[in-house]
Amino acid sequence: MTLSIVHTRASNGIEAPQVTVEVHIANGLPGFSIVGLPETSVKEARDRVKSALQNSGFEFPAKRITVNLAPADLPKEGGRFDLPIAIGILSACDMLPGIDLSKYEFYGELALSGKVRNIHGEIPLALAAKQLDRYCILPEGNMKMASLVREAKCIAAPSLKELYHHLLGQDLLELGKSAPMPNEMQFHYDLRDVIGQQVAKRALEIAAAGQHNLLFLGPPGTGKSMLAQRLLSILPPMTEEEAVETAAIHSICGKRLSYRSWCQRPFRAPHHTSSAVALVGGGSQPKPGEISLAHNGVLFLDELPEFDRKVLDVLREPMETGEITISRAARQADFPSRFQLVAAMNPSPTGHHEDGRATADQVMRYLNRLSGPLLDRIDIQLEVPRLPKGILSRRLPDFETSADVRARVIQAREKQLNRSGCPNALLSGDPLKQATQLIQQDAEFLENVLERLKLSTRAYHKILKVARTIADLQGEENIQRPHLAEALGFRAMDRLLKNMQQ
Ligand SMILES: Nc1ncnc2c1ncn2[C@@H]1O[C@H](COP(=O)(O)OP(=O)(O)OP(=O)(O)O)[C@@H](O)[C@H]1O
Ligand SMILES: [Mg+2]
Repeated sequence: MTLSIVHTRASNGIEAPQVTVEVHIANGLPGFSIVGLPETSVKEARDRVKSALQNSGFEFPAKRITVNLAPADLPKEGGRFDLPIAIGILSACDMLPGIDLSKYEFYGELALSGKVRNIHGEIPLALAAKQLDRYCILPEGNMKMASLVREAKCIAAPSLKELYHHLLGQDLLELGKSAPMPNEMQFHYDLRDVIGQQVAKRALEIAAAGQHNLLFLGPPGTGKSMLAQRLLSILPPMTEEEAVETAAIHSICGKRLSYRSWCQRPFRAPHHTSSAVALVGGGSQPKPGEISLAHNGVLFLDELPEFDRKVLDVLREPMETGEITISRAARQADFPSRFQLVAAMNPSPTGHHEDGRATADQVMRYLNRLSGPLLDRIDIQLEVPRLPKGILSRRLPDFETSADVRARVIQAREKQLNRSGCPNALLSGDPLKQATQLIQQDAEFLENVLERLKLSTRAYHKILKVARTIADLQGEENIQRPHLAEALGFRAMDRLLKNMQQ
């Protein structure tokens, strides 16, 4: 045979488009050309593949070798095509007689010695190979993450030589086992450690139940960051599908999750000096940013007004759509970014708004760093005040643990999923209308309040959604006045801005 075809995949956002490696060996002046790869990587791949074949004990054919990576217009990066090219050459030289290569997909960069080096983005590859029921041949270091894909047929190839013997059926490499999802969860922090702050804990529970965005507002040292860090411990567990989605994004960045942590929701807390690209993703080879790494989990922005306003404004679109499209001159990549935003801030640049150290103007300038549309997207905003006098010296009964709260959250979330198939925060259109019907008096009451506070229609829907979650936590079929009243209480920023203007 002088022509061989080997399957592999490129990486584009969260997708893994198919790439076919065609190798043709012809008589003539010896040469080795690769087409379909960007120019700089061609030379590198050629040198690596040649040395790896020779150092694995194969003779490099002294013929005219042409390798084509199709489709040509698909952007392809880096060393991941080395292994499929090497296998293609072996097959075209009749070194793999009778082997049906169409059952396999090959991935891996080759070291000059013939060892197979790790690549990025193994989960999308394993998922795609599984769909076509092909064996997925991967570098050893990628197996742990790939094993998260249930029933994918992954095989680790330590080196080109060992893979060659496996394909010939001589020394079989073992089929990787998929890792079952661990069901016990461990968290670093527990809600029990937070003294008092019952209203803030309640808000955290509501936010967890309905996946609502949340903003804590208050003077320094009252427990805002502490509370936010504990959100993870009361969220419902991820489904296996969600866990794989999240792990896939981490795998694209070359991040390895530990076995225990792969089913835990991610918690990302980027520093306020972060750039827009760090937050939403980017680069010439588009890579996901913090909002995608926080997919299905929590994005915590501490000291919110310290972030550059332009950086915060890029969050507006993905917060609404749950995904981000990164466009670069030559290519475009989509990354999911359905995160729950938790933010914390002081009400004034000095920390307290009544300490008299900042003028009303300075405070206003500080608060104005947050755009209205961003605040509009935060369903629950509340003040975390200093603890009342006496609470620290009193002997207090034990506070509720995260596990207790999580049990209620899970129940409330289940109701939402049964009713509309999504958490309340994501409701829109008809399902939103159906889930949040009010009796006439309550509808009028809410409309009057909105008029008084000059709130937007988006804010109106947010209040309805939060009230729906409160009703779900209480096991009520319909939203009632007390639920609405509690939801209306979570508008601390609106109140603060209104007070400042007076
Ligand atoms: N309610 C509380 N219960 C227990 N410890 C608390 C509480 N509030 C504050 N602390 C203590 O104060 C420390 C600081 O709390 P935290 O970082 O949450 O404050 P913060 O409100 O985020 O302040 P800042 O506005 O300065 O960021 C905590 O590490 C904890 O030791
Ligand atoms: Mg803090």
